[in-house]
Amino acid sequence: MIADLPDGLRESGAIKVREKLGTISGGVILDVGTQDGDFITTLMKTLREYKSFVGIDILAGDLKKAKEKFKDAPVDLMEMNAETMSFPDNHFNTVCISYSIHHLENIDTVLAEMYRVLKPGGSFIIQELYSDGEQTQAQRVDRDKHNLNVKIDTILGIPHFEALSRQELRDAVNKVGLSAVEVYESSWGVKCLFCKEAPDCEDPHRKENVDYVIKDIDADLARIIDHPSYDELRQVGESIKERVKVTGSSAASVMYFFGKK
Ligand SMILES: C[S@@+](CC[C@H](N)C(=O)[O-])C[C@H]1O[C@@H](n2cnc3c(N)ncnc32)[C@H](O)[C@@H]1O
Repeated sequence: MIADLPDGLRESGAIKVREKLGTISGGVILDVGTQDGDFITTLMKTLREYKSFVGIDILAGDLKKAKEKFKDAPVDLMEMNAETMSFPDNHFNTVCISYSIHHLENIDTVLAEMYRVLKPGGSFIIQELYSDGEQTQAQRVDRDKHNLNVKIDTILGIPHFEALSRQELRDAVNKVGLSAVEVYESSWGVKCLFCKEAPDCEDPHRKENVDYVIKDIDADLARIIDHPSYDELRQVGESIKERVKVTGSSAASVMYFFGKK
C-alpha cells in the first residue's frame, strides 16, 4: 500500500473496506463480470487468504487483458452468462461482483445464481457504484459522462444501465437472502489504496483528469457518428465537456455489501 495516501482517500471509507476484506478467507472464489480482472487483483491484495479464482464474463473479448495478466496466477477465466452458470450448487467459498450490477439485464437472476453456487457459510461480496447521495459537482460530471456512455452502449445493443440508487441496491441485495449483511460506502474504490497515481486523482481540476473526460466523450461519440441520435448526444457530450472545465471530475462513490449464505 502506498505510504502517503491523499487526504480524500484516507477519509473516504476505503480503508475500512480494506480492513473488512482482510478478515475474509476467500478459498475458491467466483468473480462475476471479470472484464480486465481489476477486482481479482484487489482481492489478491486484500483478502486474508485465497486459493484460486474463477472469473466469468459474458463477452470473451472483455477477458483478453485478464488472460494476459493472470497467465501465471491461479485464475481460470471463462466466457459465461452469469444468469445461467454451469457450476454445481454450493461450489464456491466466496462469490463476488464488482462494478457489474449496472451492466446486468437481470440483476435478480444473476444474484440468485451467485447465491446458488455459493457454499453454505460462504462469503458474498459486492462492489458497485451508485447514483444518489451527496455527490460532488465533479462526481456528477463523472456520473453524467457514464450516463452518456450508457446511452451510446444501448444504441449499439450493449446492455448497460444507469447506476442504481443506494436503496435500489439494498433492495436487490435484500432479495438474495443473505445473513450477516454489512454495508459500507466510500467515495474512493479500494483499489485506489494500491494505486501510485492516487495522489494525482485528489485534485478534480488536474489537467489530466479534465482531459481524460474530454477525450473519453469524444471517443465514445465517435462510436455512433453515423447514428441518427449522434447530433443530440453530441450536444449532451459538449455540455459535459464545458462543465468539466469548471468543476473538474472525480470518480463516482462506491457501495460495498458483505454477506454470508
Ligand atoms: C464494468 S465491467 C466489470 C469490471 C470489473 N469487474 C472490475 O471490477 O473492474 C462489467 C462486465 O460485466 C460483464 N457482464 C455483463 N453482463 C454479464 C452477464 N450476464 N454475465 C457475465 N458477465 C456479464 C460485461 O461484459 C463487462 O465486462
